[in-house]
Amino acid sequence: MAESMKGLKRSHRCGELSEKNIGEKVTVMGWVQKQRNKGAIIFVDLRDRSGILQIIFEEDTVGSEGFEKAYRLRSEFVIAVEGIVEAREGAVNENLATGKIEVKAQSIRILAEAETPPFPIEEDSKTKEELRLKHRYLDLRRPDLQRNIMLRSKIASEIRAFMAKEGFIEIETPMLGKATPEGAREYVVPSRVHPGNFYTLPQSPQLYKQLLMCSGYDRYIQIARCFRDEDLRADRQPEFTQVDMELSFVDAEEVMEVNERLIQHVCKEAIGLDVTLPLPRMTWQEAMDRFGSDKPDTRFGMELTDVSDTVAGCGFGVFTGALQNGGSVRGINVKGQAEMPRKKIDALVELAKGCGAKGLAYLCCMPDGSYKSSFAKFMTEEELQALVNKMGGEAGDLLLFAADKNKIVWSVLGALRLEMAKQLELLDDNQFNFLWITEFPLLEYSDEEERFVAMHHPFTMPMEEDWEYIDSDPGRVRAKAYDIVLNGVELGGGSVRIHQADIQSKMFEVLGLSPEVAQDRFGFLLDAFKYGVPPHAGLAYGLDRLVMLLVKADSIREVIAFPKVKDASCLMTQAPNVIPEKQLEELCIKLDIPEAEQE
Ligand code: AMO
Ligand code: AMP
Repeated sequence: MAESMKGLKRSHRCGELSEKNIGEKVTVMGWVQKQRNKGAIIFVDLRDRSGILQIIFEEDTVGSEGFEKAYRLRSEFVIAVEGIVEAREGAVNENLATGKIEVKAQSIRILAEAETPPFPIEEDSKTKEELRLKHRYLDLRRPDLQRNIMLRSKIASEIRAFMAKEGFIEIETPMLGKATPEGAREYVVPSRVHPGNFYTLPQSPQLYKQLLMCSGYDRYIQIARCFRDEDLRADRQPEFTQVDMELSFVDAEEVMEVNERLIQHVCKEAIGLDVTLPLPRMTWQEAMDRFGSDKPDTRFGMELTDVSDTVAGCGFGVFTGALQNGGSVRGINVKGQAEMPRKKIDALVELAKGCGAKGLAYLCCMPDGSYKSSFAKFMTEEELQALVNKMGGEAGDLLLFAADKNKIVWSVLGALRLEMAKQLELLDDNQFNFLWITEFPLLEYSDEEERFVAMHHPFTMPMEEDWEYIDSDPGRVRAKAYDIVLNGVELGGGSVRIHQADIQSKMFEVLGLSPEVAQDRFGFLLDAFKYGVPPHAGLAYGLDRLVMLLVKADSIREVIAFPKVKDASCLMTQAPNVIPEKQLEELCIKLDIPEAEQE
């Protein structure tokens, strides 16, 4: 039977004990990692979130009843042990922080028994993620996950401490709200009191934080839960956490400056990493031209080369056709990979097609000086030579080319560049390349919606020098927006906000929002701005992504206690699920599920 805690108090966590405690009487509690029965002596590895401690049970010291209990112990039993810390008699375990000591038990209580867990509780689990997530409460006992979750807590508290010192005020904003303008699909919550009406869960606290600026809280911070109903990936969850901030009476420079110091502080305190300031900056245009991505991983080279001019008059129709359509031809040079097997090249072609390309042209500069290529036959010797020269191609190199609209060319080569870096193991996970991307386009043309949409959100301030093009060439207008990128991941983004009514209404017009619709959706913000709005700017980080990168995890699921899987469900609780008919009636909701969608 499970025993109680009566009269017992834990004196130390397992991992807190060391040689300094030798001779002390201690009380430790935790889970049995392993029990080894050597006849007259029983060894138990006791685990809690601080580490593992070896306990020794001998009948002489623990008594016959205690020894009998130790004999019954199985993995994951919860026990309390009183005993004396001693230097290890047997082999010292250099791998354990507590490897030079052990506790000789004087008494033991079994606080809870445990069934055999469905998978072993151990570091670097080989268990399939699905099973781990189904029993997440057990998965969360594993030392690597515990370290991630504890570091996450440390990072959050360091952020709070730093921001408080900088004069930021922590303010909570509602979860039940009205549509926010971030562009992803929203989660909705039906209102019982107002049948047929719905709240939406916030994609971000964007509008509230701007209102708080109107109210005079000139430096706001919130570690805020956000919700976006979008397709999940390794770095996306339907609910995630932002470190959200907004500042009044500042320009972009000041926001970036505070945030650089925040990053420096957090990296130092959390993982002992020294970050040199100022962080490098790159305009969006430069990032696209050099890396084919607005979140470039700058830990390796393999930069893009624009060969449009070089191939302008050549005989290869795919290249010249793309140029005639206003596109470009660009390439990357994968050093030393000329002899890549055909199968692997074909896989790269498929990857390119997945990015929207019609094909991928390649040219292998063979070690004997010949070329193996998908398009060489369409070009003269001189044209080929000029192309290879432009690419810096040497014997042994593999050159990959994409020809299409810029957007597709960038996306193809950006993806190929990363894929090659992965295959060639060029990514050093001890390197942390922070980078600001600035001067984003204000608008981006959506082929789907056949109109311009805001690249960041509709409240982002355009750059003054470009504003004159807002009617004639909207795509040319750049924004006072900035993203912070770490090793190819978008860590955060923000902007200076529009605080002038005339610019804001022009923006709505360009975005195809009539004044009536704008008033209906964002009227409260536009009204607030009528009563004295300070210039303001802000930024939000994805906290999950920051933690993921600092702990070198592959997915944000490894740093979220209870994450969802790809189809946005929770394998442990089975959410989402059906609710009782009565609840639906209260909400005046009738279901009409297409047959194809029925489970
Ligand atoms: P943005 O939409 O860029 O900006 O979001 C800010 C940061 O939040 C993180 N993020 C996510 N993390 C996990 N899962 C998701 N589904 C997800 N979506 C976004 C990213 C991203 O950089 N209101 C603006 C900020 C501002 O202008 O101040 C905003 O939300 O790391
Ligand atoms: P084709 O003449 O269509 O067989 O194309 C010759 C080569 O050009 C093939 O290797 C194609 O994969 C490649 N190719 C086709 N379209 C493109 C494109 N848009 N960009 C780069 N290469 C392409």
